[in-house]
Amino acid sequence: MKTTLYASGIILTQLFSSFSYASTIDYRSEKWLDDNLSKKISHFSLTGEPAKHRTLPSIHSPKAQLGKLLFFSKIQSGNFDTACVSCHHPTLGGADALSISIGVDATNPDMLGPGREHRPTAVNYDGGPTMPRNVPTSFNLGFWDTHIFHDGRIEAMLPVPYQNGSVGPISTPDSGIGVPDPSAGANLSHAQAGFPITPKEEMRGFSFAQNKSNQEIRDLIAARLRGELEPLQINNWPTLFRQAYNKPNAPLNEVINNHSIREVLGEYMRSQAFVENRWYNYIKGDKSALSLAEKRGALKFFSKRPDGGFNCQSCHRGDLMTDEGFHNIAVPQIGRGKGDGDSGTNDFGRYRETFVYRDAFAFRTPSLINVEMTSPYGHDGAFNTLEGIIRHHMDPFYSVALYSYDGPQANIQMGDWHSNTREALWAMFLQQTMGLSKLRSPYFYTETDINDLVAFMRSLTDPCTKSRECLAPWLVDDDQDPDGLRVYAVDENFNPM
Ligand code: HEC
Ligand code: HEC
Repeated sequence: MKTTLYASGIILTQLFSSFSYASTIDYRSEKWLDDNLSKKISHFSLTGEPAKHRTLPSIHSPKAQLGKLLFFSKIQSGNFDTACVSCHHPTLGGADALSISIGVDATNPDMLGPGREHRPTAVNYDGGPTMPRNVPTSFNLGFWDTHIFHDGRIEAMLPVPYQNGSVGPISTPDSGIGVPDPSAGANLSHAQAGFPITPKEEMRGFSFAQNKSNQEIRDLIAARLRGELEPLQINNWPTLFRQAYNKPNAPLNEVINNHSIREVLGEYMRSQAFVENRWYNYIKGDKSALSLAEKRGALKFFSKRPDGGFNCQSCHRGDLMTDEGFHNIAVPQIGRGKGDGDSGTNDFGRYRETFVYRDAFAFRTPSLINVEMTSPYGHDGAFNTLEGIIRHHMDPFYSVALYSYDGPQANIQMGDWHSNTREALWAMFLQQTMGLSKLRSPYFYTETDINDLVAFMRSLTDPCTKSRECLAPWLVDDDQDPDGLRVYAVDENFNPM
């Protein structure tokens, strides 16, 4: 009896207090909001200038320009049908506007975004998309200091500050977690750029270089660019690499190799710094940069529960709004997954790397800068809207109970989603009760809370990411096609992108 009373007491205080907390922020004056936001800004040492102590290349540098051409070319895929840009297009926020991407064997390889489909006659066709996960944007890649990929399987081994573009030893899937990979290159971006060509569904394809190691695949692609693998009708890569490296007479394998290919792709991605937004302007002192709703959203984002906030910053921390850590928030598991669990279609996330329970179903905290531009959301694109993913954080059990897929791929594999997601939810519940989770759900919330948080998310968009004209330096010109293999991207209505 006593315990029941006690429990209902807690529930009642929780209910009562959370509603009244929400109102403290909702009904305060603009001046009160500004004053409290400035306290948060100084408390969390926000600068609004994440690029300040970083050396990032200009898109006009020779290596970034060459990397761009390679990023847009299908030459790196085994069967010449997929390029990096097939899934990371600048006009799609550095992503692909799909929940789960489709790489090789697309019905129309140049069609990007909704409408891109897997060819019914292709190997492993099952009606739905072929990759296991949603694409993280290539934008702002140069701001990540420790972990790349949803499960952080590329990792900086020393917690040193990012200096001069170099992060020290890096471990990758080639070396295994905790072991430095000598071929990783100078930074996380260079390290990453060596991996997309290796999975069959992504770029390698189902007939090229089967049963080869990752390094053998890279060496074959480098040989192809040098013109040594098969006859190519047009091949300007030798000239372009010699120019970018300013080594007009060097032997070809000195300028086109695993290292240089990773480097130019990495430099192109590191040049994609899109960090001008209204929130940063506000941090830097322009109090008129945000609307009232956006200010309320910001304060709710940075305030703790007792102050009427949701403490989003406990995971989405700092100027980049990520702790680069891993958390299980039990986003519904849809699609083909990573081969985990009884179903074989689940995705254990960070646990796949570390095998500790804390990491079961945990995924890397995404940066929220430009998040408006990269729907769908979650590691598998389970939510099509900002509102959907934010509501989900508030009460994952409730969100999953009501879940139905509302994204752009009607044919997504949903057969096991319920049992797979149930596993993630129970893991989350246990992690929470064991004190291993920073997610304090369920949160009681009002519709104003959701609207304010969504409004705040929209203030994080760099206007350049919305303008084709502004993005032009990161796009290739019509006359730029060094091998006759570039992607001429079109949307589902065949309009050029
Ligand atoms: C078929 C679609 C597809 C293609 C083609 C593709 N990617 Fe990706 N990319 C993805 C997906 C999906 C992920 C997430 C994988 C994961 O986390 O397990 C990803 C992750 C990344 C990341 C990590 C970003 C981050 O924040 O962790 C970078 C960088 C990247 N890709 C660059 C490239 C480059 C460079 C190429 C070309 C060499 C390329 N991608 C080709 C789909 C693709
Ligand atoms: C416990 C840590 C944690 C807290 C607290 C948290 N998030 Fe998240 N958030 C995550 C993780 C982890 C993901 C990615 C989940 C996945 O990939 O499946 C995510 C995803 C998101 C996304 C989707 C981004 C994308 O690119 O897919 C948005 C938007 C977001 N969070 C906003 C918020 C807001 C607003 C709050 C506060 C109400 C919040 N988050 C609180 C960890 C957290």
